[in-house]
Amino acid sequence: MSTPRPAGGRGEPAGAPSAEETGHPDVILCPGGPMLLRGDHVVTDEDGRRHRTTRPVSAVCRCGKSAIKPWCDGTHKVLPPQARP
Ligand code: FES
Repeated sequence: MSTPRPAGGRGEPAGAPSAEETGHPDVILCPGGPMLLRGDHVVTDEDGRRHRTTRPVSAVCRCGKSAIKPWCDGTHKVLPPQARP
């Protein structure tokens, strides 16, 4: 059992396990693609609407072209390399 840690400067809630403790990062930036979020999160879009994640891993669009923003729909794959995040 891990010892809860106080909230620190890394944006982690108090008691949240670290990446070292879980064995994987909570956030992964995919080169040329989305940002993967592991676990429960709330994503606020550019209009201020809040979207709660409902999957173990959620992909957040970083290219701005998804039809289902804030989530990635795979559109980044058909963009020219210079238009990808
Ligand atoms: S990053 Fe995948 S559609 Fe934008």
